[in-house]
Amino acid sequence: MEQLIIGFRLDEVDDWVAILTCGHGQHVRHEPPLTFRPWVLTPQGRQEKIGWPLNCVRCDRGEPPTEEPMKPIDTVHTERLIAERFQPDHFDLLCQIHRNPAVMATLGGVRSDETTRQNLQDYVAHWETHGFGLWLLRDRASRALVGRAGLKWIDVGGNREIELGYTFLPDYWGRGLATEIAAASLAVGFERLGLEELVCFTLTTNFASQRVMEKVGFVFEREIVHTGEAMLLYRLTRKAYRQNATDREIV
Ligand SMILES: CC(C)(COP(=O)(O)OP(=O)(O)OC[C@H]1O[C@@H](n2cnc3c(N)ncnc32)[C@H](O)[C@@H]1OP(=O)(O)O)[C@@H](O)C(=O)NCCC(=O)NCCS
Repeated sequence: MEQLIIGFRLDEVDDWVAILTCGHGQHVRHEPPLTFRPWVLTPQGRQEKIGWPLNCVRCDRGEPPTEEPMKPIDTVHTERLIAERFQPDHFDLLCQIHRNPAVMATLGGVRSDETTRQNLQDYVAHWETHGFGLWLLRDRASRALVGRAGLKWIDVGGNREIELGYTFLPDYWGRGLATEIAAASLAVGFERLGLEELVCFTLTTNFASQRVMEKVGFVFEREIVHTGEAMLLYRLTRKAYRQNATDREIV
């Protein structure tokens, strides 16, 4: 019986499983020369296959659903935050972040509303192109604006990388919220999108941000100059991320 693909997950040995509307999972491996599915290896390739039909043998056998319902990554809940995919009507909220001198001191300075409008267009387009991107962050209890965070493609010294970023309004600093959204972003990046690695970088003087990176498992790689400023670049691979999770379970 044909069922539509609604998402993907990695199994315990890093093979891709398509989640179907019926609640069954089906392996969609790329195993040349027998099976050619190169699209399964990239987030964009998988994104393009959402809504495609697959023949579900488990439905034919009358088996009950086996998969957890897929949670969309457009909205992510953590213990204290709600992360919402950036939408065009978030302009005023994004301006509140980009006009704040304390927030932007480590991010190249305050941005004009014109620049913010362009930034917002880029964030919205990034989601449409790649199926992931930056979220606007709200306090889960009050729904107040608290910041922005998420994953995005970026050019670092000529290399295409996917960067984890996080930025909070000053009232929310020092409560572990950056660590909370960074951990949630890693789960999305590695477990849902199946990314191989992520980078994170910040000014050599931004010790709070460096500490956040270290707390969630990033490892210092090298010094870089980005947008004309000296920065430290950290990296985390999916393999190391999973190893860290296993080590935590053992401890
Ligand atoms: C950097 C920023 C995201 C941190 O957010 P946060 O929610 O306060 O971070 P957390 O509370 O999760 O963790 C901060 C850690 O840094 C530590 N820290 C804070 N200031 C520090 C300093 N000056 N030196 C060393 N460590 C510091 C904290 O003690 C904490 O570590 P701990 O849990 O081991 O005690 C926030 O200050 C911010 O939004 N700044 C402006 C924008 C920005 O710089 N974004 C990052 C760009 S890469």
